[in-house]
Amino acid sequence: AGHHGGTMDWGTGAMPHHPPQARTVDQLTGPRDKAPDARFTLTAARGKVLLGSGRQIDALTFNGHAPGPELRVRLGSLVEVTLINTDVEEGVTLHWHGVDVPNAEDGVPGVTQEAVMPGGRHVYRFVPDRPGTFWYHTHRDAAETVERGLFGALIVEDTHAGVDKTVFTHLWPGAEDPIAAFGTADRPAREAVAVGEPVLLRLINSSEEPHRIHVGGTTYTVTAIDGNPVQGATPLTAGTDLLLAAGGRYDIAFTMPGGSVTLSIDVNEIPNTAALAFSPDGTAPPATLGTGPLFDPLTYGTATPAGEGRYDRTFDIGTDDGFGFAMGRFNYVSSSINGRLYPAVPMLMVSEGDRVKMRMANRSLIDHPMHLHGHRVRVLSRNGVPATGSPWWTDTLNVAPGEVFEVAFTADNPGIWMDHCHNFKHGSEGMVMHLGYA
Ligand code: C2O
Ligand code: CU
Repeated sequence: AGHHGGTMDWGTGAMPHHPPQARTVDQLTGPRDKAPDARFTLTAARGKVLLGSGRQIDALTFNGHAPGPELRVRLGSLVEVTLINTDVEEGVTLHWHGVDVPNAEDGVPGVTQEAVMPGGRHVYRFVPDRPGTFWYHTHRDAAETVERGLFGALIVEDTHAGVDKTVFTHLWPGAEDPIAAFGTADRPAREAVAVGEPVLLRLINSSEEPHRIHVGGTTYTVTAIDGNPVQGATPLTAGTDLLLAAGGRYDIAFTMPGGSVTLSIDVNEIPNTAALAFSPDGTAPPATLGTGPLFDPLTYGTATPAGEGRYDRTFDIGTDDGFGFAMGRFNYVSSSINGRLYPAVPMLMVSEGDRVKMRMANRSLIDHPMHLHGHRVRVLSRNGVPATGSPWWTDTLNVAPGEVFEVAFTADNPGIWMDHCHNFKHGSEGMVMHLGYA
């Protein structure tokens, strides 16, 4: 109540003359009546991808590539993307991960649209409102279809001189491939960069597990997290490793040194020699795995207080594994929310303008990268320790076993929004809830 504005005469016992109209999802669209500034077509089809290792896999592609084409757009421009599905039987949608699009453009099958089946198409329109590193991916049977290739980068451009390169850390199906994580044949894993050149790497984890990334050969700064700039970013101690949440992004910057810079990745302590290397002449020594300290966004950068702690709503989200009552019966579940599985998880209800606090406690034995659509959240504390660095805004927060995070956000984007574990396997088991606006 109180958010609809206008005067309404409810009379006494009489029907209102103009009943209040709730907005439905299909009214919450991007601009439909102007010419777009940028236009793209993404055609989904089955195909083959040649990995950097030389192994060819059956993949799902956009415009014949996996990852799909990198979309680079300007801040504030009206972007139109036409999705065409050639022959992906599961159906396809496009979700703009991290971009707070209007609800009807969010690409969630069964919630904001129907999946696009073979022979079909769907047009998305939105205006990105902040620069940064984002990505797109299908949201239909995502546990399988994203892993097989239906994803790509969406870069909202800011100005950056020098090398500006997107790096997906992705585990292709068939994890025995030792260099599966970086690079496909059309994205070489070795590159020549001139000494002294500024380098910006946009790291995106399109897999289901957090990735430990070791940056060797240089110090570096983390300039943005999930498309949100870090204030007062300073060089990290040499040898600091990054733990990148599934679905998350870190932008890192360095100046190309005289030697080589290598990135290596470690997935759940399974040694993986996958590497990406930059050097003045395009050759590089083998990368080594990281053993250094981990970058911690909780304390990094210049502190800015979160402001007064008044909230209109507080939600408690506990994730469990073990025995629980779910889907109408008592059974073993690996990824439940407050003991329930989707669709039995109650919707989180807010009103437009609410300041919302969310407490997320992981009581299970596995990582859960929690992703809220349509909003970014600010981390207030972890395990009771307040955030003291640059405001840590995130859209995909890895909550490790035993961790408790408090986050806050403003309910400023009406609609029905998924809030789920970005380990899509957990999502398909039921680790899904929704945020709704009353
Ligand atoms: Cu990137 Cu609902 O996901
Ligand atoms: Cu999970």
